Amino acid sequence: MNNTTDLLEHLANLLGRNGVITDAPDIEPYAVDWRKLFPGRPVCVVRPSSSAQVAQVVQACRDAGVPLVPQGGNTGLAGGAVPDVSGTQVVLSLNRMAAVRNVDAVGMTIEAEAGCILKVAQDAAAAAGRLLPISLAAEGSATIGGVVAANAGGVNVLRYGMTRSLVLGLEVVLPDGTIANGLRKLRKDNAGYDWKQLFIGSEGTLGVVTAAVLRLLPRPKHSVTALLSVTDPDAALQLLELAQDELGDQISAFELISRTSLQLVEKHAALKPPIAEGEWFVLIEAASSLAGMREAAEAMLGSAFEREIALDGVIAESGAQAAQLWALREHVTESEAREGKSVKHDVSVPLTAIPRFLVEAGQALAAGAPGTLVNVFGHLGDGNLHYNVLVGARHDADAINRIVHDVVAAYGGSISAEHGIGQYRVGELARYRSPVEMEMARRIKRALDPHGLLNPGKVLLP
Ligand code: MLT
Ligand code: ZN
Repeated sequence: MNNTTDLLEHLANLLGRNGVITDAPDIEPYAVDWRKLFPGRPVCVVRPSSSAQVAQVVQACRDAGVPLVPQGGNTGLAGGAVPDVSGTQVVLSLNRMAAVRNVDAVGMTIEAEAGCILKVAQDAAAAAGRLLPISLAAEGSATIGGVVAANAGGVNVLRYGMTRSLVLGLEVVLPDGTIANGLRKLRKDNAGYDWKQLFIGSEGTLGVVTAAVLRLLPRPKHSVTALLSVTDPDAALQLLELAQDELGDQISAFELISRTSLQLVEKHAALKPPIAEGEWFVLIEAASSLAGMREAAEAMLGSAFEREIALDGVIAESGAQAAQLWALREHVTESEAREGKSVKHDVSVPLTAIPRFLVEAGQALAAGAPGTLVNVFGHLGDGNLHYNVLVGARHDADAINRIVHDVVAAYGGSISAEHGIGQYRVGELARYRSPVEMEMARRIKRALDPHGLLNPGKVLLP
């Protein structure tokens, strides 16, 4: 096969005409990320409907020397699932492999295909009385394969860990087109290298995730949601310590929202918090199979007022009110986008360094990029903040990234806590990770994908 026409013909023979998209308007949703920051131009989009077909597609593209870009729900924030503009890459969409294969309520596992929407998997687990605790704003579109490939975070990491901690088994198509089937349902499996860990969070650069077995948990019957206000991030950390003392490991979310975030939500989504006082707000959720959550939350609130950690606070009286409190948090990203251009950061620093990080990053920006507005929110319980800088057109994104990330690095933090590297942070990863770590990553890439045909330009520079 020596040209694109031959490859397209071959792919159509393998997948049928419906399995290959070549018309420009139909390609468009696969060619660009949802924020429209990373527009690409693929040769075509292929939509295999089984792991065997994925393997055949990978083999065909390998033989033709054509790069592949695996794609799930295309909800990522780092441009990791979209092709470049060269017109030479094939998008491999997993959206036809969408089945929940089984839910085991006793063994507490779910097996799903890569293109299964996260919400569908959550609902299947719930129908069996179990909890799939990965929870993100994009859960209605994000897919299991994408979530695994990105090692997605979200709002429940504090209690349940990142996606990695929930993956029990994985099936992956390797860059040479062979299928590695490790769809085991074992909680204990220490037999040799745990190779699946390489693919979790590799953003489709080492293999194509085609199916996964995820761990489920008992579904909590009781939950409580509270919104509290505090004067500063230091008080928010004191509140975290108090909440951990009072609610223990029942806390599933501990989210920080700045006043700026809430102002944006009020302006663009017409949502107002039920408490007014305070510069910083904390949304706490706790859940348990046992009763008494509300009483525990009331005791925590009482201590927070008594010790003058919290200024104001409210506990949701109903599921509907809890949803209203969550809506404040969930509308931040969308409201920020409506406000205008922003330079986003998804950083983590050791928890106790957060107040100092915020002061220093603020000072550095005031000096280096005056006139910008910082919108801070995120997963405080995980030490992970979305530190987004709203800019006028005149500001240089690279300079702002450098200012923020240098402060992150000074505190031993990470420039990508949960969104991954994709193409967005590829240059910065090389800057902030040590040469030894970068060389290890390159060796792993070379070992698995010697011709560099799987998602080139993502995570590592080619
Ligand atoms: C969030 O926590 O809401 C997401 O990671 C999205 C974002 O950073 O905007
Ligand atoms: Zn987040």
